Amino acid sequence: MSLRWIGTSWKMNKTLAESRAYARGLRERLGDGAPEGLQPFVIPSFTSLAAVAEELGPGSPVLVGAQNAHWEEAGAWTGEVSMGQAADAGASLVEIGHSERREHFGETVETTRWKVAAALERGLMPLLCIGEDARTQRTGGSAEFILGQAAGALEGLAQEQLSRVLIAYEPIWAIGSAGRPATAEELATPFERLGAEYGGRVAGLLYGGSVTLGNARELLGIDGVDGLFVGRTAWELEGYLRLLELAAGH
Ligand code: 13P
Repeated sequence: MSLRWIGTSWKMNKTLAESRAYARGLRERLGDGAPEGLQPFVIPSFTSLAAVAEELGPGSPVLVGAQNAHWEEAGAWTGEVSMGQAADAGASLVEIGHSERREHFGETVETTRWKVAAALERGLMPLLCIGEDARTQRTGGSAEFILGQAAGALEGLAQEQLSRVLIAYEPIWAIGSAGRPATAEELATPFERLGAEYGGRVAGLLYGGSVTLGNARELLGIDGVDGLFVGRTAWELEGYLRLLELAAGH
């Protein structure tokens, strides 16, 4: 069976001390190895990235990621961080196109394409986030919409490059405190379509949006779902560890 990816983005949360404590706790509780068949990852804020990588230590079974990075290598881009800088701080993956960035920070299909290319060039694994809004879902257009986002971001990649990409399907209506988890029924067609296009070609297809300790197992049981990308439930270490346990025993 392929690896199950179980990861969390902390979004705009945690001080340096809180980030260090979480990472230290994770190292102590997991020891040298991840539960069999799982690939854990944590995505802190930029301010904590290097500290989290340091606390986890070299050779950690937990990958560290960045929540965003710029497509240019360096230069006059005030407030931005490059792929190379993220890698230098300890990231091995980078989130691209999260709906919060598309909605509030002008991320477009075009910029996601540039960022995916820049990440791959730098040896970072892109974690491409795609997802439709509630209106699109109501009109039955979910699968077409997300396949369009994915195709636009991944255009022109060779198979070798695609094999280093993760895709997270995170419907906007399912994310955050205003969201509700997608049901297995709602996820069947999107994952079937994503699987037909990218199954076995990318590193993994993940689901994200209101994942809880109560629904994680069911979500992992959906055909084509290779992992979970989690916000709130994993912001406390105990929640994340419990999710890893649930996924390992699945
Ligand atoms: P929640 O799990 O808090 O809904 O957030 C999901 C998410 O956006 C992960 O990127």
